[in-house]
Amino acid sequence: MSATDNLSSLVDSLLRVSEQTAAAANKVVGYGDETLADQVAVDAMRSALNQVPMKGRIVIGEGERDEAPMLHVGEEVGTGNGVAVDIAVDPLEGTSVTARGMANALVVLAVSPRGGLLHAPDTYMSKIAIGAGYPTGTIDLDETPANNVRSLASAKGVRPSEICVSVLDRPRHQDVIESLREIGARVMLIPDGDVATVIATALEDCLVDMYIGIGGAPEGVLGAAALKCLGGEMYTRLVIRNSDEEKRAKRLGIEDLNRCYSLGDLVTDEVSFIATGVTDGILVDGVTSDDNYVSTHSLVMSSANKLVRTVQSQWQVSDNNAT
Ligand code: FBP
Repeated sequence: MSATDNLSSLVDSLLRVSEQTAAAANKVVGYGDETLADQVAVDAMRSALNQVPMKGRIVIGEGERDEAPMLHVGEEVGTGNGVAVDIAVDPLEGTSVTARGMANALVVLAVSPRGGLLHAPDTYMSKIAIGAGYPTGTIDLDETPANNVRSLASAKGVRPSEICVSVLDRPRHQDVIESLREIGARVMLIPDGDVATVIATALEDCLVDMYIGIGGAPEGVLGAAALKCLGGEMYTRLVIRNSDEEKRAKRLGIEDLNRCYSLGDLVTDEVSFIATGVTDGILVDGVTSDDNYVSTHSLVMSSANKLVRTVQSQWQVSDNNAT
């Protein structure tokens, strides 16, 4: 079997992992406890991953930066039999929104053959992304946000005022937001969750045309994995704030801390990507449940065949089997 066939054979099992993690995390939505939310998601994901027949290795395990519960980079997961793969996870993308009972919390994971995903440290990362269909070089991480919007507007044949840019609502982005508003672009401020918004740039039915800003580096690799399946362009650079973060990056073999990573540098092989809603969001609906059933909604994509599926699953609470 080719590496791609091996990946495809794992996708259904990993979808179950994502669904079970989302169902567990949904039980603590609105409890105001971020650590509890992360812990529940991490425990559920680790336990479900360890049922999957694979030799899995975690290469992205978001949590170190904010000292949250996490799956550790280098951790071996799976039964230890089967295909050897690298796995990037964010068991709960939107910890804070989950704790606060808000929209857009997701479980996210990506899987590739060994060596297919950048081993990014859990630091910040500067990112810019757009969807498919534009000439290479339409965006440039070293250009100003205003010039990137002008360039995309020209490629689309529209005015800058018709371009919608999504930006994390953080004080560090004040200058970016002001410069975008000065040229009349629409700015969609998001409270959290830049993986979903990177994906939204590549989806026809979402308002977002471009994502700009500084978010987590693990989320950067996960967003790139999704864009590799959907098509699009993305550039990133690590944002290293102190010597501890520098050590973290160097431990993962990153020597040039100023390197600009394109989509193809972040994801170097075929990849499959899965996201399941914990709460309702722009990509998928959240978990619903009653005394008897749990229902989940997921996005499942593969770069090899460019297959994009939305999957709704329902299973009985008592026997935990998806139907
Ligand atoms: P987690 O919930 O997984 O911790 O991340 C949420 C998130 O909004 C990411 O989508 C984003 O990349 C990052 O946090 C931004 O970090 P910060 O909240 O520190 O600005």
